[in-house]
Amino acid sequence: MTSTEPVSLPAALSSFSALWSPRILTTVNDYDVRVAKVEGEHVWHVHDRTDEFFLVLDGELHIALRESESGGERTVVLPKGSAFTVPRGIEHKPYAPVRTEILVIEPSGTLSVGDRHDDVPGHVDVTTGHVLSS
Ligand code: NI
Repeated sequence: MTSTEPVSLPAALSSFSALWSPRILTTVNDYDVRVAKVEGEHVWHVHDRTDEFFLVLDGELHIALRESESGGERTVVLPKGSAFTVPRGIEHKPYAPVRTEILVIEPSGTLSVGDRHDDVPGHVDVTTGHVLSS
C-alpha cells in the first residue's frame, strides 16, 4: 500500500470529490494516513479497540462526544490546523458546518463507521478507506 513515490496532498485532495469517503494517502507501519472531504453530519459510532486522530486541513470540524462515565455530551470544535484524538470506546459523531478537509490516522482496516453505530445515512460511505487513484 505504501507508495514508493512522494504523495502530493493537494493533488490527492483534488483527485476525488465524494464526501465522507476517505482515501488512503499512505500507510505507516499498521496505520493508514487517510484524507477525506466532509460536510454535514456523519453518524454516531464507536471504535472499540482504537483511538482515532483527526487533523483539520481546511474548514472546520466539530466532533460530538458521549463520554461514558458522565453520560453527557460535549462537542469539540476544530478549526483549520487543529488536531484531536478521539479515545477508543468513546461514541462520537463528526459534523462539518462547511466543506472541510481532514486527515485521519487510524489502524489499517478501521471501518469509517466503527464497530458499533447508529443507522448509517445514505451520504456516509461505509469503508476501510479507498486507494488513491493517481
Ligand atoms: Ni470514528
